[in-house]
Amino acid sequence: MSISRTGCFAIVLVLLGSLPLAAASRPPAQGGGGAVASDERLATEVGLEILRQGGNAADAAVATALALVVVEPEAGNLGGGGLAVIKFGDEVTYLDFRETAPAAAHRKTYLDEAGEPVPEASLVGPLAAGVPGSPSGLFELHRRYGKLKWRVVVEPARRLAADGFAVSRRLHHGLVAKKEVLTRFSETADRWFPEGEAPAPGAMLRIPELAATLADYASEGPTAITSGDRARAIEEVSKRYGGILTADDLAAYAPVWREPVRFEAFGWQVASADLPSSGGILVGSTAAIVDRLSWRDTPRFGAQRVHLIAEAWRRAFADRFLLGDPSAAKAGADELLASSWLDQRSASVDPMKASASSSVEPWEHAVASDGVSESSDTTHLSVVDADGNLVALTTTLNGLFGCALYVPEAGFFLNNEMDDFATVPGRPNLYGLVQGEANEVAAGKRMLSSMSPTVAWREGEAVALGGRGGSRIPTATLQVLLNFWLDDDNLQAALDRPRVHHQWLPDQIFSEDDALSPETKAELEARGHEITWVGSLAQVHAVRWSAGGQVEAAVDPRGGGGASGVVRPLF
Ligand code: DON
Repeated sequence: MSISRTGCFAIVLVLLGSLPLAAASRPPAQGGGGAVASDERLATEVGLEILRQGGNAADAAVATALALVVVEPEAGNLGGGGLAVIKFGDEVTYLDFRETAPAAAHRKTYLDEAGEPVPEASLVGPLAAGVPGSPSGLFELHRRYGKLKWRVVVEPARRLAADGFAVSRRLHHGLVAKKEVLTRFSETADRWFPEGEAPAPGAMLRIPELAATLADYASEGPTAITSGDRARAIEEVSKRYGGILTADDLAAYAPVWREPVRFEAFGWQVASADLPSSGGILVGSTAAIVDRLSWRDTPRFGAQRVHLIAEAWRRAFADRFLLGDPSAAKAGADELLASSWLDQRSASVDPMKASASSSVEPWEHAVASDGVSESSDTTHLSVVDADGNLVALTTTLNGLFGCALYVPEAGFFLNNEMDDFATVPGRPNLYGLVQGEANEVAAGKRMLSSMSPTVAWREGEAVALGGRGGSRIPTATLQVLLNFWLDDDNLQAALDRPRVHHQWLPDQIFSEDDALSPETKAELEARGHEITWVGSLAQVHAVRWSAGGQVEAAVDPRGGGGASGVVRPLF
């Protein structure tokens, strides 16, 4: 395995340098009739409106996700894909609507004749786009669990697109930040920079072409996008810029119901995203390793907990190297969450000294013998209804505005999810992740994700959560859970608390600016850890239900925060 550590490190630093600082906390929203936490106030309000109309958590989650397509077009999407973990009563399920590689994709799609990666090929322009899964995924989630009529669930998003909405500061800043790459495509430039400038924060924006798509989606379902004129338009614009996405790819796409990763941790039952995401396996294995390393009895503050969790992540992310589409992965939850393997992994942790990542081999080698980035390009929403049904849904275009190509006939951006494949195995991707052959590009395959929509419950209590932030999603999700489960934090405090991150390679602890005291940092360095400061590590949104029907919603204060809301106050 050859790994360019320097390349990985450089990518990480460049991308981390631009992150916003965490903002101050706020009280959690509490109420009694259901709750929604999402990135945007207008989208959360749509979810609440649907709950008030008698919709359940699935109706509200789909309506919120569709509202995000309109008001947060840099991440909310119909041109990307996502994952959802759902708990309705005792039934716990996992919907995989991750993008797939187009039929014409192969392991050399992103390489030149010399076998070197073609710059930007998996990041910018439609060659970077996987086959979108959101149109049929959101429809399928509603088909199986929704209570309200489909058109009722789609209508609030259509209305926002048709009547207009106030451009958020985040959207404005995202457009400004990505102007150079977005304006390489006249389709994108014409819509988003009409006079050469991005719409100002607060400006009223209507997107009639998206309203038309949503109107047809409401009456016809996904074929309004995956066949006919819109599918042809997607194929044409893709071809125009050297892409390989076809109308046939769109028509052939199908979401998949899967079993979530299930495990028990600290007295809670947990269900999270299994392959094609690494998220649930990472959350489950690291929870089990820190439990074996006496996490519960370790002082909350100081170096020891940071050391233990970094060592757990170092090992879990080494195993991520083997993961990919379920058809190609070299290991999965059965192997990586097996007690014997977790025992072996935790026994290899020196309680006082950092291991070198170069000495921690992925499972396959260990059994036989022996960078990171984040921007605001994924969006997570958590919903609970009055009956305690929960949906944790994360959806993404991968990078901010995906591949930067807007499809005017459809009203949305295409993703650049192909970069989540190991386009060159052994070399770091956008998130500094070094990935293996199991995640090589091949037609029809799903690219490995880190998204971690998660539901956890015990007698009389349940939470749903997840986040954005690439490889930092599973580490942030676990830290929130540990704060909430073991340290008496309420949901909001559990989200607010500073975070750290490690992902095997690069071999560093990433720490939010305020996560480590000078003494703790010095102690960790003395143990052999390298510390890199970062502005923020992922953004997590969560909801909670407790017996008697009381609900709570909380959003992460990092990176512009989000919006939580409940159906009605208790008092
Ligand atoms: O699926 C994944 O792991 C990535 N495409 C997620 C990207 C992401 O979270 C970016 N957001 N900040």
